[in-house]
Amino acid sequence: MEAPLLTIRDLSMRFPADDGDLEVLDGINLELHAHEFACLIGPSGSGKSTLLRILANVLEPTSGTIEMQNEDSLKRAIVFQNYNLLPWYTVIQNIALPLQIQGADKTAALNEAGAWVEKVGLGGFENEWPKNLSGGMAQRVAIARALIQKPELLLLDEPFGALDALTREQMSLELMATWEEVHTTVLMVTHSISEAVLLADRILIFQDRPGKVVEQLDIPFERPRTGQLRDTLEFTQTTRRLREMIEKVKNGSASA
Ligand SMILES: Nc1ncnc2c1ncn2[C@@H]1O[C@H](COP(=O)(O)OP(=O)(O)O)[C@@H](O)[C@H]1O
Ligand SMILES: [Mg+2]
Repeated sequence: MEAPLLTIRDLSMRFPADDGDLEVLDGINLELHAHEFACLIGPSGSGKSTLLRILANVLEPTSGTIEMQNEDSLKRAIVFQNYNLLPWYTVIQNIALPLQIQGADKTAALNEAGAWVEKVGLGGFENEWPKNLSGGMAQRVAIARALIQKPELLLLDEPFGALDALTREQMSLELMATWEEVHTTVLMVTHSISEAVLLADRILIFQDRPGKVVEQLDIPFERPRTGQLRDTLEFTQTTRRLREMIEKVKNGSASA
């Protein structure tokens, strides 16, 4: 079998606090494989965003190692719940920005951004300002801005957490279709059980205090998947199984 894209060993993270250090992550051991879609589910405040920021290379872990298949050259991009668009840039300028930062020619960057505008269904809105976009549209921009970088690792931190239920379902179907084209490795934090089962190849269950991956569930549904999968008995059985596993982890850590 191919070596994992990324291997996390004994990773821990502590933040200094007034009453001693806050131990946020401890003993994280995890492999991410090339082209897999992994979801991370766990309680609020358990360190999921901290783990993603470490994997995005914006935060140094206190201890532990992250080994990469191709040394240090792993291209990564991260998408946050609150979009983080630049308000003084239009849709197309926001999407083109990473390429321009990397030194690409402006016309070439805008051309490629234009293609992404279409791919994420924002045709006609390329010159709009972020303040005029709905949440779903803003998140489409943020996803396009991440994918234009052709990341080998795409980190999604509750990307649909701020959206209403219907928009959220629509967005997860769109993300699934886009991902089936680009097929990059994804680690996505979500609180939605059905979203995780629909999208993921593997679901990692996180415990609290300190944060740690304690269980995982493989999702063997064939690809390409469609929204109809949610209407099948197998889907319902899998969501039930996942819910039970999450409950068990919750009760286990509460009584520990
Ligand atoms: N830069 C920081 N300094 C101090 N504490 C932090 C910092 N970032 C996160 N924390 C704390 O770490 C814990 C985990 O946060 P976070 O990773 O955001 O959790 P989650 O994403 O699972 O909700 C929280 O208690 C949070 O307050
Ligand atoms: Mg978070």
